[in-house]
Amino acid sequence: MRRIGIVVGAASLFITASAGVSAGAPGLDPRESTAESLAVQHPVFDRPLVAVSHRGASGHAPENTLAAIDVARELGAVTVEVDVQLTADGEPVIMHDTTLERTTDVETVFPDRAPYRVSDFTMAEIRRLDAGSWYDSAFAGEPVPTLGEVLDRMEEHDLNLLLELKEPARYPGIERAVAEELFEREGWFRRNPPWEPRRLVIQSFDWESVRESQDILRSVPHGLLGVVPEDRIDDYGWAAMINPNHRHIDADYVGRVQEAGMEIMPYTINDRATMDAVLEMGVDGFITDYPEVGREAIDDFGADRTEAPSTPPAPPVAAHD
Ligand code: G3P
Ligand code: CA
Repeated sequence: MRRIGIVVGAASLFITASAGVSAGAPGLDPRESTAESLAVQHPVFDRPLVAVSHRGASGHAPENTLAAIDVARELGAVTVEVDVQLTADGEPVIMHDTTLERTTDVETVFPDRAPYRVSDFTMAEIRRLDAGSWYDSAFAGEPVPTLGEVLDRMEEHDLNLLLELKEPARYPGIERAVAEELFEREGWFRRNPPWEPRRLVIQSFDWESVRESQDILRSVPHGLLGVVPEDRIDDYGWAAMINPNHRHIDADYVGRVQEAGMEIMPYTINDRATMDAVLEMGVDGFITDYPEVGREAIDDFGADRTEAPSTPPAPPVAAHD
């Protein structure tokens, strides 16, 4: 079975190289489009499999906090996923739920402010909340971070970022607000070489919002969360990734996405058996609350796609009579 995964990966290598997935050049102006692909220019075409550490490392620390990012780094994560929304005063803030009560003490601090929508609070108000105690008293006082603070912390750790625009229809202009935050930090437009995981990917379940963000940040790869119907995958050729729930994919779907020149990293997988199963399907990675378990699964899978094949896979040959 393992061999099947490697064969799928090899096919992906060839497809990625020939399709010219939109990897940009280091230092490229993020507002300019790029047709160049380092993946085509370099003899090593593909990237290693990635265990994306979900909401920081939410299996070990309060989700979407700086502490969770620190733990992800300690556990050896290379790429971290977080969710971004907008406060009432337009600050990009890191939070999964569209209301504050599950992961903060907002009901205690602001008892008369139900329904506690993120969009009803200023950043100064959100700053007064404790986003750690609900998880464990060891994290008491952990603040809800801004996107800027998360970017700073991830730069310190040299982590790659999978950034989800969470329910962007609630926050008109969030795509521009996020882009402005990124424009201030040129490092996020440094593109990792093609044999490393992508430096920055922006994704959302709202595909119109993803397109809008892609139009603003044209050299940044973007991802579609959810299942794009097979007969519509080609309509989304501008995207770099399709990241569905792992329950809704099989090897055929994985192959179909990769044939279209995109990567696929299903979410959210926390048990080793399911990690092994999606690796066998040929995924490019997966999203997990437990990056150390994910790393182990990938190491054991042994499909080290950072090694260039001695000869590229031959293109399909037309059958003769
Ligand atoms: O990155 C994918 C995953 O985070 C999507 O689900 O609900 O955890 O944001 P959710
Ligand atoms: Ca998310």
